[in-house]
Amino acid sequence: MSGADHERNAPTRRQVVKFSFYRIDPAWRLLPPKGRREAKRDLCRAVEAFGDRLLVRSYSLVGMRGDADFLLWQIGERLEDIQEMATAVFASDMGPYLSVPHSYLAMTRRSTYVTPKDRDAPTSRDTTLNPSDAKYLFVYPFVKTRAWYKLPKDERQRMMNEHIVTGRRYPSVKLNTAYSYGLDDQEFVVAFETDEPSDFLDLVMELRETEASAHTLRDTPIFTCIAVSLRQALDNLGAPGDTVRAGAPHEPAAGGGWARVASADDLTESASKVVYFGGDQVALFNVGGNVYAVSNRCSHAGGPLAEGKVEGTLVTCPWHGSRFDLASGKPEGGPATKPVGTYRVKVEGGAVFLATSEVAAAKSGRFSTEARRTSERPT
Ligand code: FES
Repeated sequence: MSGADHERNAPTRRQVVKFSFYRIDPAWRLLPPKGRREAKRDLCRAVEAFGDRLLVRSYSLVGMRGDADFLLWQIGERLEDIQEMATAVFASDMGPYLSVPHSYLAMTRRSTYVTPKDRDAPTSRDTTLNPSDAKYLFVYPFVKTRAWYKLPKDERQRMMNEHIVTGRRYPSVKLNTAYSYGLDDQEFVVAFETDEPSDFLDLVMELRETEASAHTLRDTPIFTCIAVSLRQALDNLGAPGDTVRAGAPHEPAAGGGWARVASADDLTESASKVVYFGGDQVALFNVGGNVYAVSNRCSHAGGPLAEGKVEGTLVTCPWHGSRFDLASGKPEGGPATKPVGTYRVKVEGGAVFLATSEVAAAKSGRFSTEARRTSERPT
């Protein structure tokens, strides 16, 4: 087996991906203000309790579509976590008024149509989704015709190359592809992120003219979603101001202090672990009893740092070999030139905590020059 084949066939970490579109019963708006307020807070608490297991992004569809009011985009490791969060949502005080008119379940996997020269492209190797902080998200299910699968692979590859080249003409639009074969009704769920809805419109128009488009069986319904905090999404349902405050789109729940993200037992000596925190994926490393937390997204092209080799306090990105200092986030070699964000960590009572007040700064790498480690050993 060639090195390329081995790399292609190597086991990869796969994620489960869920798009749950919720609709609110208009009867909820007739509740007394206190009842509405408490229901919103209860739902926020229910969702935020899953912050260490699921990456949850919230979007408002109020005014965009008539059949859905908000979206919770969930990314995690286990189907059970998705189910437990759905259960918690319906068990909240808001639950009796919520329905799910659209729901899409999928998983990540490596792209089928990757050419050798694309092998280093992040979209070709990545089996983890890393949503950006774009303002808009466009989601739809996607199904190919059965005739498509009967075409020779070379012919499909040729058509997909045209499709891929068209997409690259719109760098402001980021595509997140998840696969549903056998899991759900559609074959793919595609989610495009951008700050420019007009760029997405132009991209879709161009894609319709590609040869591959003739082999599309279904690509509707399409959902136009606006990124907001969950609090804001709930305020958009009516009775604005009922919630405590409207935070930044992907701000974590807690106002300040520390948030528990993992059990220290899960982070034994020399182990690494990915956790979901503040709408970001964070890689935890236990190096000689000290725990470090950095963004799991390499600043070069998004490689998963949690899967990198650690020597001393340096982690090497598994994709192209950039090395980062775990304490400062600074690049110490390789193609990366920008730091990765770091988080303050503490280990207490058998649990790992991250500082909630620094999420936005860590995501931007602002704290990258400061040491971020704990002196306490996980127990
Ligand atoms: S993604 Fe290229 S070095 Fe990390």
